[in-house]
Amino acid sequence: MIPDDKVREVAERLSIVEVVADYVSLRRAGANYLGLCPFHAEKTPSFNVNPAREIYHCFGCGAGGNAFSFIMKIEGLNFPEAVKLLARKVGIEIEERQLTPAEKKSQDEHVQFRRINDLTTSYYRSVLLNGQEGEPARQYLAKRSVGADISDAYQLGFAPDRRDGLAKHLKNNGVGLDIALNLGIIRKSDSGWYDLFRNRLIFPIRDARGQVIAFAGRVLDASLPKYINSPESPLYHKSSVLFGLDMALPTIRTGNSVVIVEGYFDHLALYRAGVQNVVATCGTALTGSHASLIKRHAERVYTLFDSDNAGKKATIRSMELFLEQRIPAYVISLPAGDDPDSFLAEHPSEEFAALRNKARPAFEYFVHSLLAETPPDSVDSKVRIIDDIVPRFRKIADSIERDLYEKEICRLLGITVHAFRKRIGGGNLSPHEAPINRYIPIQPADTVQDTLLTLLLNYPDARAEIERVGLESIFTDDYLELARLLLQSMAVSEDSQVLSQLVETLEKPEQKSLFSRMMVSEGYLADINWRAVLDQCTRSHEKKQLASIKDIAARLAVIDPGSDEYSLLLKQADTLRKRKSEL
Ligand code: UTP
Ligand code: MN
Repeated sequence: MIPDDKVREVAERLSIVEVVADYVSLRRAGANYLGLCPFHAEKTPSFNVNPAREIYHCFGCGAGGNAFSFIMKIEGLNFPEAVKLLARKVGIEIEERQLTPAEKKSQDEHVQFRRINDLTTSYYRSVLLNGQEGEPARQYLAKRSVGADISDAYQLGFAPDRRDGLAKHLKNNGVGLDIALNLGIIRKSDSGWYDLFRNRLIFPIRDARGQVIAFAGRVLDASLPKYINSPESPLYHKSSVLFGLDMALPTIRTGNSVVIVEGYFDHLALYRAGVQNVVATCGTALTGSHASLIKRHAERVYTLFDSDNAGKKATIRSMELFLEQRIPAYVISLPAGDDPDSFLAEHPSEEFAALRNKARPAFEYFVHSLLAETPPDSVDSKVRIIDDIVPRFRKIADSIERDLYEKEICRLLGITVHAFRKRIGGGNLSPHEAPINRYIPIQPADTVQDTLLTLLLNYPDARAEIERVGLESIFTDDYLELARLLLQSMAVSEDSQVLSQLVETLEKPEQKSLFSRMMVSEGYLADINWRAVLDQCTRSHEKKQLASIKDIAARLAVIDPGSDEYSLLLKQADTLRKRKSEL
């Protein structure tokens, strides 16, 4: 734990321009500095750094934040690590708060876990590389065309066919075996310590920073089980680890997309073929934590699963996760019977690139594979298909996308849009779903609210006026929450340092991006008649809200009057109507 005042001290000594300039070449452009965004590929600069506000924002990809968040994102660090890195840069010494005995114990343990994993990795690696015992594994790798460079990149190893090779090695290096037991790589029986992996090719599993946290072991022949994996441990939670993320991050950053595969060897095959923005799940289905990990690093995801039935199921399940987290997802389909490894063994990587260019949006893939399975040739089958589609269709966040799919689905099934909508309205929404946001999504970039927020930030008189009429009548959704936070924070201090700290407390990426956008855009509203702008904005904003009465009415017509959504929408329509009469 780093004490808060230390963090602030570091922040005060820093200039965000200097921090960013270590990574991006910047030139002055008005109030801001401008450069090529390091977080997405671009040819014309849209990456802005505002020195007065201590904030950066990219208008191309929406990335934004202060010096700490910049370092976290570009170096792949967590907050304390970023603070420490920057503290070193400005010559501030960080003494961490005294740890409690329990924290101390857990920290010591982690240091030992790490040492054990490092010792284990190098033990297996040396068995693979040196001596007679590694020969079968060397032959196996040669057979699968895994060269020395790839073996080294993955730090592959071999667990010899011995009962306690690793246990002895750890013991000889002074490791307390009871501690190693927590990692599951050795075990204890009445007759002593023994190894988990025997006669297996070893893949070390590393976290995003490249630390080994677990191992997977593959047999060298056709025996079963094909793989054994480290069990869950204090270091390893397989539902939130993506194999190969550390190797993929640099490439993910430049292309902003990631390919997900299901196997260690699939990962290896792609990486070897030069497709290096690839990650794999570790013998488990993709989870929500995987999806949010992906969202933190990439804007687009491609799934590349086996072409068999299990692969199809996994593809559709992952589509739902990506819809929920609003990550655009595409499906790369391989010829029947192929997996990535076999495909790349027989085809040049250009052919793989062609497949990737032909990847379909996941939802489209889903609808088409559903229709291939159940041809819509009877009323009965159409109803079944619609019932399969509806719960997933509801998860599409983008209204334009939803519109297009609605038309496509209706065309494919030969039904009217009216009938389809009726079906959507008829289903019960589960209680945790928020109906209002689902059906009336906010505009991603609302220029009017943008302007209003900028006024609030830059003109104290405008701020007072906005507070007088009430934030709720001016802002909605993310804008409203952000406006509230800004007011709260500015009530304490208008210092730009304090404001830029606010970005650390924002959890939603949309809000972070919005905030940094506001903070770097102060120039464009300089010296204006704020009252005229405010009047103009509030009027056009009101009009827009009034237009939505129509949408609400249309929706009310098709849903169950007993539902929660119905009463919520009714209330919303009432408020809007009242305001209209006041105008
Ligand atoms: P695959 O059987 O497709 O393995 O399982 P693979 O990695 O592609 O290996 P090769 O090419 O056949 O040698 C896919 C993934 O499922 C998990 C592993 O993560 C594997 O990489 N798995 C598979 C297990 O955890 N245990 C098993 O017994 C089998
Ligand atoms: Mn496979």
